[in-house]
Amino acid sequence: MASEHTPLISTGRVASPRPRYPYAVVRRFCTIALASTLIWFFIVVAVSLSIFPNGHPHHAPDGHWTWPGRGRRKVSYDQLQQILLDTPSSKLAEEWSRYYTAGPHLAGKNYSQAAWTAAKWHEFGVESTIVPYDVYINYPVDHRLALLARKKHEDGHSAWEVSYEASLTEDIIDEDPTTGLEDSVPTFHGYSASGNVTGPVVYVNYGTYQDFGDLVEAKVALKGKVAIARYGGIFRGLKVKRAQELGMVGVILYSDPGDDGDITEEKGVKPYPEGPARQPSSVQRGSTQFLSFAPGDPTTPGYPSKPGAPRQPVHTAIPSIPSIPISYADAIPILKALNSHGPKADDFNKYWTRNLGLQYKGVHYNVGPTPDDLVVNLYSQQDYVTTPLWNVIGVINGTIPDEVIVVGNHRDAWIAGGAADPNSGSAVLNEAIRSFGVAVRLGWKPLRTIVFASWDGEEYGLIGSTEWVEEYLPWLTHANVAYINTDVAARGRTLRTSAAPLLHNVIRSATAAVLSPNQTVKGQTVFDVWDKQIKTMGSGSDFTAFQDFAGIPSLDIGFDSSPEQPVYHYHSNYDSLHWMKKFGDPDFAYHRTMAQLIGLITAKLADLPVISFRAGDYGHALEHYVTKVEDKLDDALSPKELDVFSLADDTTYFELRGSTRNSSSATLFWASSPDVLSFKKSLRRLHKVLDKLIERAVKLDKHADDLDRRLEGHIPWWNWPAKLKLGFAIRKVNTKYKYLERSFLYEQGLDGRPWFKHVVFAPGLWTGYAGAVFPGLMESIENADWTNAERWVDIIESRIQNASHRL
Ligand SMILES: *[C@@H]1O[C@H](CO)[C@@H](O)[C@H](O)[C@H]1NC(C)=O
Ligand SMILES: *[C@@H]1O[C@H](CO)[C@@H](O)[C@H](O)[C@H]1NC(C)=O
Ligand SMILES: *[C@@H]1O[C@H](CO)[C@@H](O)[C@H](O)[C@H]1NC(C)=O
Ligand SMILES: *[C@@H]1O[C@H](CO)[C@@H](O)[C@H](O)[C@H]1NC(C)=O
Ligand SMILES: *[C@@H]1O[C@H](CO)[C@@H](O)[C@H](O)[C@H]1NC(C)=O
Ligand SMILES: *[C@@H]1O[C@H](CO)[C@@H](O)[C@H](O)[C@H]1NC(C)=O
Ligand SMILES: [Zn+2]
Repeated sequence: MASEHTPLISTGRVASPRPRYPYAVVRRFCTIALASTLIWFFIVVAVSLSIFPNGHPHHAPDGHWTWPGRGRRKVSYDQLQQILLDTPSSKLAEEWSRYYTAGPHLAGKNYSQAAWTAAKWHEFGVESTIVPYDVYINYPVDHRLALLARKKHEDGHSAWEVSYEASLTEDIIDEDPTTGLEDSVPTFHGYSASGNVTGPVVYVNYGTYQDFGDLVEAKVALKGKVAIARYGGIFRGLKVKRAQELGMVGVILYSDPGDDGDITEEKGVKPYPEGPARQPSSVQRGSTQFLSFAPGDPTTPGYPSKPGAPRQPVHTAIPSIPSIPISYADAIPILKALNSHGPKADDFNKYWTRNLGLQYKGVHYNVGPTPDDLVVNLYSQQDYVTTPLWNVIGVINGTIPDEVIVVGNHRDAWIAGGAADPNSGSAVLNEAIRSFGVAVRLGWKPLRTIVFASWDGEEYGLIGSTEWVEEYLPWLTHANVAYINTDVAARGRTLRTSAAPLLHNVIRSATAAVLSPNQTVKGQTVFDVWDKQIKTMGSGSDFTAFQDFAGIPSLDIGFDSSPEQPVYHYHSNYDSLHWMKKFGDPDFAYHRTMAQLIGLITAKLADLPVISFRAGDYGHALEHYVTKVEDKLDDALSPKELDVFSLADDTTYFELRGSTRNSSSATLFWASSPDVLSFKKSLRRLHKVLDKLIERAVKLDKHADDLDRRLEGHIPWWNWPAKLKLGFAIRKVNTKYKYLERSFLYEQGLDGRPWFKHVVFAPGLWTGYAGAVFPGLMESIENADWTNAERWVDIIESRIQNASHRL
């Protein structure tokens, strides 16, 4: 990729400065201007040349499209689409899946998978290289979790006795070979602190910011205690962060089957491998990095982890207390130890009583703490190292040098398997690349350069992609039109997407062009069976650095499982090829479909002369987000709380409180305060600048459509001026589209998390996965900081004006 980094215009070499002449500066300026104009001109000519075939195509007897006269363009856009639909194979997707899931591939631990991937892409006809970074991560050494009770002996002595020793392992299942691998990855948390702590235990519900707030309010002692929280609702690292801030000494996270809906043992469904319910010993590994504050290598925030790069302290980015993930089988004895101690979940609000899945096992969901003679010992030993990891980067050079589409998926997994996360995506990406390779062999060259990425280290904190974006930021800022991500490409049958508004239309048109594997109604497309929901960009996968740091419109796509479908064993040994073949995507049909979708989306963005963005969609979305801010404000000023839907650990949807607001009697005071009124009024300013933006955006889209129509019309081969004029107009529109998203970056970044630069999209500060819109405004409202809220209105207003200018 280093060659791709070379700036297009190397101004320094054009003329050396000669300070003796007073007009040297002017001359240099003119030279630069001339050089830029020339390059611009050449690109326009290149665009014009490649978008107009020489005369009209003929269908030659050999099956190729040919053009009379000089030149022969073998692959038309229609043919390209056909190739991308015809090539992907379920059988091969399964073969790639089998390869990736054959052995462990934790970040930085499996170079051979990187080399294999690069070799495969090469074989498919796409040049690729391995791009390494030196990153700071942990590997598990040892762990223990035990329940200890102090027992009085007859002689008056007392001693600690182990009343439960947690197994911390997942059962080996004979019919699933992945679960019995000798070198399988132990259960642990990425970026867990090492530690050996002992203390009474407190049940903290989901461990959200608000759950902890409820405990504080109820005066439950937290200091010096060990938290046990159920997984779900928010990113796990943020649970540990809040526990740490409140003086707790360790955190246990378990998967409560209550979140599995109707697919539970309690409701008579057999667990894996016999049935689709959760295996009781399954453990969700995962990272406890403070993801919503900064992803990437925590020692190199904002710059690449190259060997020798300076390293920063990590205490603000990762936990300082140990944590450990466990199964519900291991959680039951600990939760039962809490029975009759302290208040019960029922004593709190509805957020505490939903989805309690272990009552039938005798768990009462008491909060605790347990008395001082009933404690847990949590021991976690981690080996922290700075070690290489390996991205694989493949490139198909396009005709236009400064317009680039990036398509990526991560390769590393928490477990030896990872058939869904992430290697359904890896298999799909391989099939999409193989399809493009077929087109390349037929002589196709894309208009825009396509870069394919197989990221390493995603699981620890989006490391491979973040370091790469940080390294190539100047080039990406200049040239990257869009980023397409797939992580879990197939683990069920329900299409799930999130995307920047500019890309919504591309998703709609690509899904409408691909048949669904569900042919209940013959001929129905993916679009037909889709709920048409496109979420805003949060975090939790490799698009984060592109969208939130570099301002590159991104999308994320995959087939998810929904509540009535088999339970997905997220980050567990049971995310295996065997599970995939029995429950997830038995004939790999959804893998194949996703390869077709990724292919078409990429082709649309890379090979249509006019970039398929819709600026109008962005304008309307912004308008809607401002309304959301106003709703939030009204909500904060009235005593009732609003429920929102949120993504829980990628696996289940459930309600979560939307606000971290400190419920306080000051609300009425706020409502009438002049600061609030002034802030409310300033929001109206945003509507006003948005009206203008929308007007211009819609006009640009209309103009783009018009250019598309003119391209389809006939321009005689000799009419070069007309062709150049059209090429020039297209180039101009494309440049506007390309830079539109960049307008929304704010160099200083968000409050308290300067790495996040996008003023519209960020992960929720205290949710991590789920997207927040206008985070600066939302957080100011939560903190009732009206001065800061107005500051953010100013910042956002100027970004919108900038975007308007650019259009
Ligand atoms: C790397 O991955 C391959 C393919 O999945 C696997 O066979 C091999 O055991 C892994 N190597 C290591 C060192 O874990
Ligand atoms: C953890 O600390 C306890 C004392 O608090 C000690 O008995 C135990 O051996 C320690 N465990 C390890 C693995 O060091
Ligand atoms: C709520 O506000 C009170 C008083 O301002 C403060 O002491 C408490 O820590 C706050 N609670 C949370 C959860 O922020
Ligand atoms: C793509 O272009 C770059 C820079 O122009 C060049 O270094 C590289 O070799 C090209 N790659 C291929 C596969 O042609
Ligand atoms: C398949 O399509 C039918 C008809 O459109 C729909 O009712 C059904 O829910 C779909 N099933 C799945 C699993 O998507
Ligand atoms: C918009 O913002 C960019 C980047 O901050 C800046 O370079 C450009 O000059 C601004 N344009 C206008 C018209 O404000
Ligand atoms: Zn993943």
